Parts: sequence; C-alpha cells; structure tokens
Amino acid sequence: MPACPWEGFFSPVWLKRWADAIPSRFSCRRFSGPATIDEQSALAYTAARVSLPGLRLALLDCDGNELFIPLLLFPRIEYARQYVAVIIDSAAENAQLHAGISGEAMVLELAAMGLGSCWVQGNFRRSAVDIPLSPAERILAVIPYGHPSQKETRERRSRKPLRALCLDKPEGWPNWAFQAAEAVRVAPSAVNSQPWRFSRSGNTLRLSGRGFGNVNYGIAALHMECAMHALPHAWRFSSDGKGLLLTNKEDT
Ligand SMILES: Cc1cc2nc3c(=O)[nH]c(=O)nc-3n(C[C@H](O)[C@H](O)[C@H](O)COP(=O)(O)O)c2cc1C
Repeated sequence: MPACPWEGFFSPVWLKRWADAIPSRFSCRRFSGPATIDEQSALAYTAARVSLPGLRLALLDCDGNELFIPLLLFPRIEYARQYVAVIIDSAAENAQLHAGISGEAMVLELAAMGLGSCWVQGNFRRSAVDIPLSPAERILAVIPYGHPSQKETRERRSRKPLRALCLDKPEGWPNWAFQAAEAVRVAPSAVNSQPWRFSRSGNTLRLSGRGFGNVNYGIAALHMECAMHALPHAWRFSSDGKGLLLTNKEDT
C-alpha cells in the first residue's frame, strides 16, 4: 500500500492554528479587496511549505470577470483579484488526495489570517489560468481569495448530521474519533455533497465513501489531521485501497 506522505508533514503548531480556524471558514465569493503585500508574502511561504508530492500551488492575479463563469443556479464570484491555482501532476500517485490536503491547508491558513476564500472546481475557465504547465500537469481547481466583502452573508451551508455520515453509531465513540469526524462534517465539499463515510473499530477510524480518493477526501484528511494535532496518531490506506485508516496511538 502507498505511504501517507502527509503523516508528520505539518507541524502541530500549524495544525492547531488551522483547527482553530475551522469554525470561521466559509465559502466566500464576494471580496472587498485583495490581500496586502505582507499577506501575499506570508501566503507564498505557506503555498511552498504545504505542497505535497504531485502538486503545485501557484498564487496568481486575475480579472475575476474573465476567470469565473457566472452560472444561473450558483452564487456569483465577485471582485476576486487573486487566486491560488491548484495544479496536479496527473501521473503522480494520489495527486487529487494530496491536492485536497494542501489546498485546504491554504484555505485554513487564509481563514486564520482573516481572509476569505472558496474552492472552485466547476465554474472557471481553465484557458484563463495564466501559468505555463508541463505536459503532465493540469489545473484541478482554483481558490479565489481576498478580504471578504461586508456584504458577504456568511450564511452557513447546511450539513448532514454526523449520524448520517457514520456506518456505525457515533454515540459510543471515544472523544477523539468523534472530534475527527465532526471536523470533517463542517468541511467544504464540491456542491456540498459531503460524500464522506466513517466507521470505527477499536482505536482506528476509517474514512471512505463514494469517489474515494478525490479532492473531497484530501480536504477531509486535512481536517482530521487538524483535529488530531495534540494526539500521537498514524495514517494508512485500507488493504482494499478504498479507504483511509487513522489510528490513535494513545487509545489502547
Ligand atoms: C472540491 C470543491 C469544489 C468546489 N467547487 C465549487 C464551484 O465550482 N463553484 C462554487 O461556487 N463553489 C464551489 N465549491 C464550494 C462548495 O459549494 C461549498 O464548499 C459547499 O457548498 C459548502 O459550503 P461552505 O464551504 O460555505 O461551508 C467547491 C468546494 C469544494 C470543496
């Protein structure tokens, strides 16, 4: 089974900072202004530091009207001047999973800095992303960011109850497993699909679900990693390759 390169990759200090930012994150689609030069240089450092193998995060400027495609049933993205291009090497192993982990690390760092952002995988023009790509690379998603507009409603999107995401009853789970699953429940997902499913056996929590391995599962893994920042733990892929196993080494 392939190793999990995010294990031990982020410092506990960073994970705690992002765990604290989880409740304040929301998909911000209306901006009042761009990040400042100081904020940009902190973000450039983060982008370089959090990129897992098979992945590149590029900070770029944009004309939001050109990059984003307005769709009838979706909220418009307004006044975005900067974005993160999430670029994957399609030949690399687990590239989408890694993109979810590293991209969400950027999103939570932006939230920790008081900046707004939104994952966008659907309504943007790939041809408007102005960066040279190698033949194996492709743009998986973009993340517009900046200072949130006062008019941004910050309405929380509804979420399924935790029980609906669990294959067994979460009421009997130890606190760490409950906290890890709850951190995922509030995470962003494409069209708010929340495809994740959890089951627990002893000191191990299994993350699986429809489309396992795509970017939504990387986002989930990063939220679980944040929830576990203070506990010794280990990650591995399940033997059928259809799930991720998180083991709490302290829970005997
Ligand atoms: C992988 C991914 C792709 C997404 N793609 C889009 C998109 O194309 N357009 C958009 O407006 N929002 C997009 N979103 C934002 C989701 O709609 C949003 O996360 C979800 O509705 C939950 O709302 P919240 O992030 O405010 O909690 C995407 C989110 C994720 C995680």
